[in-house]
Amino acid sequence: MSEFHHIPVLLNDVLSQLSPKPGQSYLDVTLGGAGHASEVASRIAPDGTIVGFDRDPDAQAAAQARLAPFGLQSVFIQASFMDLDEALRARGIPDRAAGGGFDLALADFGLSSHQIDEVSRGFSFQTEAPLDMRMSQAGETAAEFLARVSDTELADILYEYSDIRQSRALARKITERARAGTLQTTTQLAELCCGIMGYPRPGHPHPATRVFQAIRIAVNDEFGAIDAFLRDIPRWMKPGGRLCIISFHSGEDRRVKEAMNKWQNPCTCPPRLPVCVCHKVPLGHVIAKKPVEASPSELAENSRARSAKLRGFVFD
Ligand SMILES: C[S@@+](CC[C@H](N)C(=O)[O-])C[C@H]1O[C@@H](n2cnc3c(N)ncnc32)[C@H](O)[C@@H]1O
Repeated sequence: MSEFHHIPVLLNDVLSQLSPKPGQSYLDVTLGGAGHASEVASRIAPDGTIVGFDRDPDAQAAAQARLAPFGLQSVFIQASFMDLDEALRARGIPDRAAGGGFDLALADFGLSSHQIDEVSRGFSFQTEAPLDMRMSQAGETAAEFLARVSDTELADILYEYSDIRQSRALARKITERARAGTLQTTTQLAELCCGIMGYPRPGHPHPATRVFQAIRIAVNDEFGAIDAFLRDIPRWMKPGGRLCIISFHSGEDRRVKEAMNKWQNPCTCPPRLPVCVCHKVPLGHVIAKKPVEASPSELAENSRARSAKLRGFVFD
């Protein structure tokens, strides 16, 4: 494994929304290289605590090394945040109802730069590599997924996750080649995309970029994990707890926005009723109505912050 490289996005905005204080408890469900976590750790030290999740075993090793100097009590969990409840309970960590929970939490979705740059992981098509794309380095690879999925299922994935107009023709060709065993590498898939979507033009993103994104989301069930996380996280936030979520895809941000709006305004009464009869209680409030995006100076230093959107929530 090469040295872990990742610049944390919207770092100052996250710190300003979380506002970490000495002694607080912090849950980071996408630890990565602990870029955000190490900054939070320095502010909650010396008595703060950290629980960190990442489904990628590479991340755990890098994060552990980076957080060690702070000497905080920490727990690393190599699992998906889809299994938040189960993983925390299995370690005897109490939830809010049992008088526990976290003061601070962060989810920073998507891939780390390390995962993209590590050629053998198959997330990038710049260099030939096996068609893998598994964040956890376990389970079904992208090549296996494409050989199993039906062409209509894949067409829906390409269209819904990446808005690809040629989704049907592309899906037919991809599944045909995958089943025949002739779609095994990243560059073979990129070449196939160009054959149907056209070759890259200067100043335009490579056509395979969005295809890779859609397949990666499906292989890792990224939206399923986010839905489960948004369902479960309120149970783990203390009163006054502050949660930040960074999204990189419109499908992610839409889920976060809808969940936070529902936490803030859970009332399900028809608008014609003069008073609320459902008596659903708000869980807290959003920190800002609009998401925070990267400033021009951050973008100049880190182009991967381009599509980042940060939303924050304070639990009552
Ligand atoms: C954008 S990086 C996080 C970077 C980190 N905030 C930092 O500053 O170093 C996203 C990380 O989340 C992990 N990840 C993505 N989906 C996950 C999931 N469902 N469960 C656990 N980890 C996940 C990825 O493996 C990756 O390491």
